[in-house]
Amino acid sequence: MTNLLASKTVQTLLDRASGISEAGGNARLKAIMRDLLESTMALIEKHDISESEFWQVIHYLQTGAPEFGLIVPGVGLEHFLDLHMDAKDAAAGLSGGTPRTIEGPLYVAGAPLVASGAHLTDEADEGAVLTVSGAVRGPDGEAVPNAILHVWHANSKGFYSHFDPTGAQATFNNRRRLKLDAEGRYRFSSIMPRGYSVPPGGATDVLMQARGRHGNRPAHVHFLIEAPGYRTLTTQINFGDDPLARDDFAFGTREGLLPTPDRSRGDAQITFDFALVRARSKADAGFSTRPRASA
Ligand SMILES: [Fe+2]
Repeated sequence: MTNLLASKTVQTLLDRASGISEAGGNARLKAIMRDLLESTMALIEKHDISESEFWQVIHYLQTGAPEFGLIVPGVGLEHFLDLHMDAKDAAAGLSGGTPRTIEGPLYVAGAPLVASGAHLTDEADEGAVLTVSGAVRGPDGEAVPNAILHVWHANSKGFYSHFDPTGAQATFNNRRRLKLDAEGRYRFSSIMPRGYSVPPGGATDVLMQARGRHGNRPAHVHFLIEAPGYRTLTTQINFGDDPLARDDFAFGTREGLLPTPDRSRGDAQITFDFALVRARSKADAGFSTRPRASA
C-alpha cells in the first residue's frame, strides 16, 4: 500500500480543500470537513477503491437521499449517537433514568394534545387492542407533574400515518400528545402495531441486502416525554415477545425497553414506568432540533 495520504501534496490539498488555509468560513465546519475528507481518502487507499466504485457510491447517495432517515439507523449510526450521548452523560455523572433510544424518521409534529386515557387509533383496524399505562417519575421516584407524553406507532399492517405508502390512514392515526396530571400517571389504548420492514427494493433495502442483513423491526411504540425541569426523553418500547425483539435492523432495542405484553385476555396490556433525569439548564431540557415532519 502506498502512503499517499501522509504526503505533503495530499496534506496541503486537505488544508486547501477544507478551507483551513483560508481566513473566512466556519472554523468548526472546516475542522470536521478536513477530518471527513481525510477519512474518506484513507478508505480509498486502504481498500484500493476504484474510480468506478467511488462513483457508484456517489450515485447511491444521490438517488438514496430520500431514505437517509432509514439508512442512518440501518447502519447503526443513529444508535451510535445514543451511545455517544450515554457516554457523555456517564462522564458528567448523569447516569440513570429510562434508557434513551433512537427517534427514527417517522415522528410528525402537531399531533392532537389530549388528556391521558385517550384512544389513539382513529379508524377501523382489525388488530388487537393495546393498552399501555404507567407513571412518569423523577430520579428520586417523585411524581413528575405536567409532563407531555408524545406517542406514535404503526398500524396493524406496519405502516405509519402520514408516511403510509398505501395512502390510507388519517393524518394523526396512532399519534397523540398526552397531557399528564400532577401525579404523572398515564394511560392510553390503541390497536396493536406490527413490526415493519424498510421499503422493498428501496435504497435502504439494497444496502441491507448487500450486507446480508434484513431490514425489519420488531413491533414497537415510540415516546418523547417533555416535562418542566427534566430532560426530554426520546425512547421506545419494543415488545419482548416479538421474534425480532433482539434482532432489530435499526438497533433501537435496548435492555430495559422490552416489556412483554400480557395477552392472557385476548388484548395486549403493558405497564411501563418512565424515569426522567433532571435538567441542569433550560438548554439541557429541550428537544433536539432535528428537522421533523409536521402536519
Ligand atoms: Fe418506528
